[in-house]
Amino acid sequence: MKALAEAGAREFARAAGDAISDRGVFRVALAGGSTPRAMYERLTRSPYRGSIRWERARFFWGDERCVPPDSERSNYRMAREALLKPLGIPPRQVFRMKGEEEPARAARAYEDVLRREFRGRPARLDLVLLGLGEDGHLASLFPGTRALGESRRLVAANAVAKFSEWRLTLTYRAINAARRIVFLVSGEEKAAPLTKILRKRRGWRDLPASRVSPRRGTMLWLLDQAAASRLQKSRRS
Ligand code: 6PG
Repeated sequence: MKALAEAGAREFARAAGDAISDRGVFRVALAGGSTPRAMYERLTRSPYRGSIRWERARFFWGDERCVPPDSERSNYRMAREALLKPLGIPPRQVFRMKGEEEPARAARAYEDVLRREFRGRPARLDLVLLGLGEDGHLASLFPGTRALGESRRLVAANAVAKFSEWRLTLTYRAINAARRIVFLVSGEEKAAPLTKILRKRRGWRDLPASRVSPRRGTMLWLLDQAAASRLQKSRRS
């Protein structure tokens, strides 16, 4: 996990440096879940703490659970504790999805946040960080859920039966518009969905992450040994 966190921090710094030198601002959508936490914590230490121009960074989220911001399950809370608070990022640079609000209204409100941020031009985040679920989900785009079919909006409220909860999520439209997409994947339990997607194994298109493909950007998969364990084998077969 340490090497994965380092690789993720390096990629984050590269994306930030490019965006800030090209446009003077770095807009990143943070991933939730547990994997990115070590990477966020790594960014708060040298050299990243001092080398990234944090005052130019603007923080968004790829998804949020429909819970209050101080809930243990909140993706915002995890990022605030691991990254934003230790770096002293001021609230004016932080744009969280309001999981405490009625989901459909919160999704529309976040869509407005993004449209305002890009002043009516197409919303194009500089970096979208993503994790991968065992079922091949990303952000809160889970198999069999309505948001998978959302092609117009940038943000959707998504009912996720498997957790009997609502989620807020960027849609494929918003994610695939990004300049850089980076998946951070750790653990043996991700080896199967990962190999299925990367090797285009039978049924790979059923996995939501298979539809992540930047229209005019780059995509990078950062994996730890365990998550990559079946990739080497599958090369030989
Ligand atoms: C969330 C995330 C979700 C996560 C994957 C992987 O809200 O949980 O957005 O998409 O990235 O489920 O989670 P782990 O990193 O905990 O394995």
